[in-house]
Amino acid sequence: MSNALEHIAIIMDGNGRWALSHGLPRTAGHKKGAEVVIEIAKAAKEMGVKYLTLYAFSTENWKRPKDEVDTLMSLLRQYLSKDFDELNKNNIRICFIGEREMLDADIQTKMSELENLTANNTSATLQIALSYGSRAEIIHAVKQIATNVKNGDMSIESIDEKSISAMLYTKNVPDPDILIRTSGEQRLSNFLLWQLAYAEFFFTKTAWPDFTAEELKKIVSNYQTRERRYGQI
Ligand code: FPP
Repeated sequence: MSNALEHIAIIMDGNGRWALSHGLPRTAGHKKGAEVVIEIAKAAKEMGVKYLTLYAFSTENWKRPKDEVDTLMSLLRQYLSKDFDELNKNNIRICFIGEREMLDADIQTKMSELENLTANNTSATLQIALSYGSRAEIIHAVKQIATNVKNGDMSIESIDEKSISAMLYTKNVPDPDILIRTSGEQRLSNFLLWQLAYAEFFFTKTAWPDFTAEELKKIVSNYQTRERRYGQI
């Protein structure tokens, strides 16, 4: 029996260390990492994975040195303006989760434009977590639920897993089946804390810039050998 596989989530870690190990500035790692984003999004689609969520920038990443943040933002501008066309041509829908208002206005505009442009693409969905933090997302949902209860639009008794999921940024996307973190670290770093409740975790030593479709396929084969019990026997 094989496990259903709809959604893969990835923490793309190790760009900086990859660059330093090649004698390059950290920003070169992000540049290579962005190219890998396109390759892996296409590969996941080819493998029939309907949803791919990538952690591109956390709320904590704002605390990095200004020149690194600036480089990441200019890479993002470049991908939003041009390089994501490749994914649009592949019939991939692109959407974003996170605290958008923290990003520069022109980036927010480009994000909305890309979401609109790709809204009717049907092969797969690429969800990019940008300025994202899971605790902030949960706080946002709790405030919304409290407001609904206060206004009489919702009863306390009706609060359940479904209604909480429906208040998260990921409301239109099923929970991930697989979580991958590259480059050897084994932690969640405030990524999809609610949504990953039953995901299967995979940690690889490969740095994100060296991550390939082949390795993704190996992880998926391994996933097929795992027994998912969801707390049952
Ligand atoms: C983690 O490596 C990676 C990031 C903080 C940024 C991820 C961004 C990209 C892959 C490129 C931009 C994405 C798009 C969508 C165009 P790290 O810098 O923490 O590496 P380290 O742990 O080795 O220092």
